Amino acid sequence: MTTEYFQGSLAQRDPLVHQALENEKKRQQGQIELIASENSVSLASLEALGSVITNKTVEGYPGNRFHGGADFADVVEQAAIDRAKQLFGCSFANVQPHSGTQANQAVFFALLQPGDTVLSLDLAAGGHLSHGAKPNQSGRWFKIVSYGVTRETGRIDYDNVEQLALEHKPKLIISGGSSYPREIDFARMREIANAAGATYLVDMAHFAGLVAAGVHPSPVPYADIVTCTTTKTLRGSRGGLILTNREDLFKKLQSAVFPGVQGSAHLATIAAKAVCLGEALTDEFKTYGANVKANAHKLAETLQRRGVEIVSGGTDTHVVLVDVSSKGLSGQRAQDLLGAANITSNKNPIPFDSAKPSEWKGLRLGASAGTTRGFGLAEFEQIGNLIADLFDAADADETSRAALYETARRDVADLCGAHPIYA
Ligand SMILES: Cc1ncc(COP(=O)(O)O)c(C=O)c1O
Repeated sequence: MTTEYFQGSLAQRDPLVHQALENEKKRQQGQIELIASENSVSLASLEALGSVITNKTVEGYPGNRFHGGADFADVVEQAAIDRAKQLFGCSFANVQPHSGTQANQAVFFALLQPGDTVLSLDLAAGGHLSHGAKPNQSGRWFKIVSYGVTRETGRIDYDNVEQLALEHKPKLIISGGSSYPREIDFARMREIANAAGATYLVDMAHFAGLVAAGVHPSPVPYADIVTCTTTKTLRGSRGGLILTNREDLFKKLQSAVFPGVQGSAHLATIAAKAVCLGEALTDEFKTYGANVKANAHKLAETLQRRGVEIVSGGTDTHVVLVDVSSKGLSGQRAQDLLGAANITSNKNPIPFDSAKPSEWKGLRLGASAGTTRGFGLAEFEQIGNLIADLFDAADADETSRAALYETARRDVADLCGAHPIYA
């Protein structure tokens, strides 16, 4: 029994889970992944995620643990901390948040009391659930004031942010979101936070990898606190980080993460975070970041050339937010049309959109995962044309649609076959 427990493979011991994981591997290999929050982690990250350090319980921080036997846990967590500080040029880092949401939750817990006011980007304009959306704890327990973008440009309306900040005097102002495709004016937001007497948080979950690669401005010199996920452009395992240059805030943030909102550290994930942060310090990663931006730009440009409207007229990041109503489609319909050709994406609200997901007009695309598997400008141009073909044929007759889908699936299979993810 003991031998079987320690030596039996997943396939032998749990065929159901094994088969689902094998199927997922095939799905990832065979589909073009355009979901902007996804990416493919390295084999080294996967190895760390599956390591025996998952057996270890630790609470507290390196050098100050509640449990014995933490020597190697300390090595791993300290490496992640040191690399995060080096990568983002900050003085303090907490690498324990289990997710981006919990990183933000810890910031709220450290700084606010229930009922306090927070000013953050509206969900439809690209904000994130954990910045104060109604169904999230942040939206239930705090008074949320939302700023948006201007209708004409799709870019943040900084005058509106300033006016709201001075009127409502929020304790916390948040920048960042999950579908805002443009660079943020961190200096202007800092000035607004100063004028309102607010703490300034930048959640760079989406563009952290671009900051790490040096192809996107860093919020670290401007924000009091920066949070992010290690997924998305940073190309690591699921998880969150909190960064700051302020020692006074760091003390509060440390105790907000543990014991405030979390218990023991997830060491296998922290080990994988250390790996991804180490990878992000390499020159190869700088090239990756530059390619992600160039590929996203090519995708946006190709779609625009084919008459598809892009929110804000383009992108400064890996995100391409498409207004599919310009082709007479809903976000859900567009997602389904691409899904049938093995191209994965997600419906999304666009600025001033309906609150009902079934009526959303947006489709969010991203270039990070495709770039990781080696797609370049030519491939992203081909993908853009493929998407436009599928949109244009949405209402064509059955026979021509069937022919188009046969070609599209073959093109997708060829692209994926030529760029395998895990050999
Ligand atoms: C801006 C932003 N913050 C936080 C998160 C939450 O990350 P997680 O899914 O790890 O909780 C996301 C996820 O998409 C995000 O886009």
